[in-house]
Amino acid sequence: MFKRSFIGVVALAALATPALAAGDADKGEKVFKKCQACHQVGDDARSTPTGPVLNDIIGRTAGTVEGFKYSAAMTEAGEEGMVWNDEHLHEYLADPKGYVPKNRMAFAGLKKEEDRDDVIAYLEQFSDPAAVKADHSGDEPDGADDNSDSEE
Ligand code: HEC
Repeated sequence: MFKRSFIGVVALAALATPALAAGDADKGEKVFKKCQACHQVGDDARSTPTGPVLNDIIGRTAGTVEGFKYSAAMTEAGEEGMVWNDEHLHEYLADPKGYVPKNRMAFAGLKKEEDRDDVIAYLEQFSDPAAVKADHSGDEPDGADDNSDSEE
């Protein structure tokens, strides 16, 4: 009995969530506390010597915030064409040193996929909605196999 209604609630919550991001931005705000020692995001956010500002991260070429002194590794990743999106953020945040070897972010990584989903959903709120939408345009919608002609 309890179990069945619990599943019902979960299904409803899934339906009510906008299709764009897999994560929960509110939970992501809490996860972001781990990043806040070094990064700012939101109104009046700016880069500090400890980390580049994370506003407009989606669609930004890696290592390109003006005035922030990146490592050679991060600058090179951008020169080689890495543009931050959901996929790159997932890989980088799971294992910063593994994904961009010799980059300067002294952070062990977020091992839980859910934490990564959530913090990325949080960061998406401070990026250009058009860039976020474009990033997710290739995503498979949950529970449907092809929705490709629904693009606006
Ligand atoms: C100990 C400080 C520190 C912590 C904690 C930290 N970062 Fe970073 N982060 C950095 C630094 C420094 C760089 C620049 C790395 C370089 O130049 O090699 C960076 C780079 C990045 C970049 C690439 C930015 C760009 O402009 O290309 C992203 C995205 C990022 N961090 C996200 C996060 C997130 C999300 C978290 C929390 C889950 C986090 N970071 C935690 C210090 C930190």
